[in-house]
Amino acid sequence: MPEYKAPRGTMDVLPSESCKWQYIEGVFRDICASCGFSEIRTPTFEHTELFTRNLGETTDVVSKEMYTFQTAGGRSLTLRPEGTAPSMRAFVEHNLGSALPFTKMYYIARLFRYERPQAGRYREHTQLGLECVGEEAPQTDAEIISIATRFIETLGIKDYRLKINSIGCRVCRPEYRKALVEYASQKADSLCSVCRWRLENNPLRMLDCKEEGCRQALADAPAISDCLCPECRAHFEGLKEGLDLLGIKYEQDKNLVRGFDYYTKTAFEIVSSGLGAQNAVGGGGRYDDLIAGLGHKPEPAIGFGIGLERLILTLEALGIELPVSNSPEVYMVACGSGAPEASLALASELRKAGVRTETDFTGRSIKAQMKTAGKLGARFAVILGESETASKTASVKDMDAGTQEAVAFPLLAEYIKNKSER
Ligand code: HAM
Repeated sequence: MPEYKAPRGTMDVLPSESCKWQYIEGVFRDICASCGFSEIRTPTFEHTELFTRNLGETTDVVSKEMYTFQTAGGRSLTLRPEGTAPSMRAFVEHNLGSALPFTKMYYIARLFRYERPQAGRYREHTQLGLECVGEEAPQTDAEIISIATRFIETLGIKDYRLKINSIGCRVCRPEYRKALVEYASQKADSLCSVCRWRLENNPLRMLDCKEEGCRQALADAPAISDCLCPECRAHFEGLKEGLDLLGIKYEQDKNLVRGFDYYTKTAFEIVSSGLGAQNAVGGGGRYDDLIAGLGHKPEPAIGFGIGLERLILTLEALGIELPVSNSPEVYMVACGSGAPEASLALASELRKAGVRTETDFTGRSIKAQMKTAGKLGARFAVILGESETASKTASVKDMDAGTQEAVAFPLLAEYIKNKSER
């Protein structure tokens, strides 16, 4: 028989782990709802042009990381590599901006990028993201960033750095690009082969190169923040004031550029010391020109995406335990004639009363079933042997205290609920 394994760069979220995922997703949903965001669910695949035309032909994602396939009808489709373009496609298609001056949506989406897998980098990953359309004030940018930081702080991650930059707009970026190309051309010999290609095709991405030679060569390169037009400069100042007002600490990083071409003005990233080379837990920014590129009237917009797998790695690296558990409150131990039937009925009552209950119909000895109850971390074992079943009175063992009491069947749910509250 062949040995089946999950494809490279993907992972299974096992039943013992999924409670963490659900908890994180729940925190994200609650925070989004508290800030006026509603969920959007878009298809897993989109027409390929949505990405090639709107993310940037020369970006890593479009040039080499997309999972693209032809349908039988000859249409080219692509598994979504990110969530912003699909959300904006839906915004335009359904005219979501018609009712209110702003539209706020969030998503929890599985995304696909054919990257070289390593710790924190997968070919399928999950992003918790949100997008806000229709607001251009810098206070919006500060608010969006504050949602991201509040979210990760709520999970217990305090040890992170927020990096911000402004990457200008259609007016000032071409000037900056020229200045950067001029500077980097003189250092071309010290650049890696990828950056020599970027110099011609996507010069801003050189600033993000992790190669030491490139970092040194570009250490004194002109900073985009020094080349901003008055509007972008004022917007960036407004953002920083907003963050100060909210007491959010940030670092201005002149080399922060992000990986997609749609960004304008604000760019930000949250990095964690708990991660290795792939240290960005999340990132985002403004993209004021994307919606016009989709054939809609121009609309300012901003959003972010946070990688769920990287959040989990960060939590593990920082030793942060989430308040989650798969343990049942009650483990029904059933052994002997009539016990499985009694267990079936009582478990159903307990569950209706909201008590997390595990049944055991294996027919093993009481000792063996008690062992499993302990292994699962059950708070109570409800023991139904032959005498208990006959007298309709369960022996309830408090697994923490080690004490045991007899409880009549009709009083069982009430008894467990009272005890658990204490
Ligand atoms: P991104 O920086 O490409 O931005 O991804 C956001 C986050 O997703 C990253 O910081 C990282 O945590 C996670 N991530 C990305 N790629 C991988 C991967 N291969 N494996 C594991 N995690 C990964 C975007 O995608 C933008 N659409 C975010 C955005 C929303 N900007 C505005 N609105």
